[in-house]
Amino acid sequence: MVVLGIESSCDETAAAVVLNGDTILSNVVASQVDIHRRYGGVVPEIASRHHIEAIIPVIEQALGDAGISLGDIEGIAVTRGPGLIGSLLVGLSVAKSIAFARRIPFVGVNHIAGHIGALYLSDTVPPFPFVALVVSGGHTNIYRVEAHDRFILLGQTRDDAAGEAFDKAAKMLDLGYPGGIVIDRIARQGDPTAIHFPRAMKMSLDFSFSGLKTSLLNYIKQLEPPIQPDFIPHIAASFQDAIVDVLVEKTVRAAEESTISRVAISGGVAANSRLRHCLLERARQKGIDVFIPPPILCTDNAAMIAAVGTYFLRQGRSDPFDLNAVSRWALSAGNSRETK
Ligand code: KG4
Ligand code: ZN
Repeated sequence: MVVLGIESSCDETAAAVVLNGDTILSNVVASQVDIHRRYGGVVPEIASRHHIEAIIPVIEQALGDAGISLGDIEGIAVTRGPGLIGSLLVGLSVAKSIAFARRIPFVGVNHIAGHIGALYLSDTVPPFPFVALVVSGGHTNIYRVEAHDRFILLGQTRDDAAGEAFDKAAKMLDLGYPGGIVIDRIARQGDPTAIHFPRAMKMSLDFSFSGLKTSLLNYIKQLEPPIQPDFIPHIAASFQDAIVDVLVEKTVRAAEESTISRVAISGGVAANSRLRHCLLERARQKGIDVFIPPPILCTDNAAMIAAVGTYFLRQGRSDPFDLNAVSRWALSAGNSRETK
């Protein structure tokens, strides 16, 4: 089955063509990062306008890269939520229009389920059940994944998402936006043990990163300005380790408590080199198998949406044309398609 995936939940306009839910024929991502950089974060209204400009060329490129035409598409999978409502509506409207014009089915996909769906496109796919940490700019959730559409939430952030903490830290250190990738790079030159930042909520599978953020702010305030440039890698490495430490420990603990020996991570922060390294190391000690999509599939893309959507489309499911976008949509047991 040839499925067109469309993703526009935040600041990436993306389209992809996926064959049989596991083979990527094309994967196009148009990032708005350069536009939002000057504001230090995503401006929702500006994001929606840019999605409108980019969506058709991005879809045309995805079809071109796959060497097919619109007539070859058998179904459409589109992100329905959670995300910025104006941005979501652009992708959803285009998906409905194509589905209507071509008389093909379309399904609305949960973005978080999409991040987990990136695993189905990887070289080694984890068998069910597995424990998944979805860690991005908007989410830090641990699930027990029992099937393509069955998720049990084991832990979640009580405040900021891990990616948000990376982005805010980079802002405080004047490293630019988005922060995760910059901190990842700079931290390679730093000593992660240079400064001890707090690890919150040790006993729970829930996360909290706001105390860590305050701790970094207080640390920066007590330094004699300006911060010595050669000390910044040490701050970045220590801050990164405080996040990576809790992500790794809780993911491994969730697997142990569920007696599941398979863990997976996905979402933008799963592109972090230190997180990938530490999780592999820790899991190896515990005899747990680790599954991580390549970085390009960890950050927002439409191939992951097509992978999940194919599962629904194959069951003959098709959403109605009055389907609406939803800014909040929790993944729940037994159903990833209903709004909560
Ligand atoms: O999944 P994603 O592309 O979008 C959301 O659904 O939020 O994740 C974006 C987040 C941003 O906060 C970004 O700073 C973070 O992922 N990120 C990283 C890295 N690459 C992206 N964080 C840490 N290390 C990275 N290498
Ligand atoms: Zn995402």
